[in-house]
Amino acid sequence: MPTRVLIVGAGAVGAFYGSRLATTPNILVSALCRSNYKVVAQSGFRVSSPKFPDYTFHPEHTFTSPAEARNAKLHWDYLLVSTKALPDVSDDSELLEGLVGEGTAVVLVQNGIGVEAPYLKRFPGVTVLSAVTIVSAAQPEHGVIKHNRWTRISVGPYLPHLDAGGEGAKQSDAEAETKGKAFVEMLKQGGINDAEVYDHAGLQFVRWHKLAINSAMNPSSVLSGGSGNQAMSSDSELSRHLLGVMNEVLETAPKVLGKPLPTKLAPAEKVLESTRKNSSGSKPSMAIDWSEGKRMELEVILGNAVRLAREKGVEMPRCQSMYALLRMAQENREAAKSSKL
Ligand SMILES: NC(=O)c1ccc[n+]([C@@H]2O[C@H](COP(=O)([O-])OP(=O)(O)OC[C@H]3O[C@@H](n4cnc5c(N)ncnc54)[C@H](OP(=O)(O)O)[C@@H]3O)[C@@H](O)[C@H]2O)c1
Repeated sequence: MPTRVLIVGAGAVGAFYGSRLATTPNILVSALCRSNYKVVAQSGFRVSSPKFPDYTFHPEHTFTSPAEARNAKLHWDYLLVSTKALPDVSDDSELLEGLVGEGTAVVLVQNGIGVEAPYLKRFPGVTVLSAVTIVSAAQPEHGVIKHNRWTRISVGPYLPHLDAGGEGAKQSDAEAETKGKAFVEMLKQGGINDAEVYDHAGLQFVRWHKLAINSAMNPSSVLSGGSGNQAMSSDSELSRHLLGVMNEVLETAPKVLGKPLPTKLAPAEKVLESTRKNSSGSKPSMAIDWSEGKRMELEVILGNAVRLAREKGVEMPRCQSMYALLRMAQENREAAKSSKL
């Protein structure tokens, strides 16, 4: 039996990793699209990458809506969710209604903190794999995937009952761990050599570590008028701010997760140092979303961390200030948009 994967939110990240899985024997990858449906259904995804020769990825099935995907009545081994995480706009776990079957694992490849909870709430008992990637990829036009650099993706089962104060281990944990390992093996077979597997706690630290970078770079870029990563990290005053935000997040993570920060995670100074050397001119996605008038991933990159920390009696003043300012800016813009309608 082939392994069937459905990409839910087939944009830059989903189509890139999905296309790599599709290169391996016995893995059939389909895509649930939205605005890119017509192009993808007709011509597939054209993928360019510095790591792989150019190729075209034709999904086994291309669906235009969740209803169409449900009507196909296929069994999905993995539902690879890679929409932008915008819980203030939509609960994307709803897209999976009727697609989760016996043994289906939901793999969330999204930035931010707290992205997993809505899926476990809607589908109690389902295997949720949490995945964090440092890839740089874009979809500059429908059906065109530009992989710019990096491939690393970290995957681990999401088992919140193991957290301090949780119910403790369950029998199904082993199955989730096995699914996580199998998914990483599949990625490796697809040429993602630095796919790596973690346990629940380890992956949550990787998430917080990526959050430290995202919560520093993304909002600061918007608030500084769309500055690039290298420019921000090379500016004497702004780099102090970035360091302050990253350290705030890295100091908060152990207080929320109840364990010390693993030493293998790069300290903030090291992250900034390598950002200064990156001359690609790249800008954080939040700045691009803001400049295109789109909603930003504010809740998962700032709001959830601020709230989780507050529940533990910890304030995150740098993140909180950026969150409050940007949330209001976004609300004002949305209000202005609707008053024009
Ligand atoms: N791009 C990167 O380099 C990168 C790196 C690391 C992490 N990430 C994270 O990965 C996640 C995905 O990012 P991305 O850059 O791949 O975003 P993206 O290119 O915007 O892709 C998201 C895709 O989801 C689709 N989508 C959203 N809602 C949908 C719905 N209801 N039904 C069907 N499709 C839907 C979007 O369709 P429409 O085009 O119609 O909106 C789009 O094709 C985010 O959390 C991001 O922060 C991205």
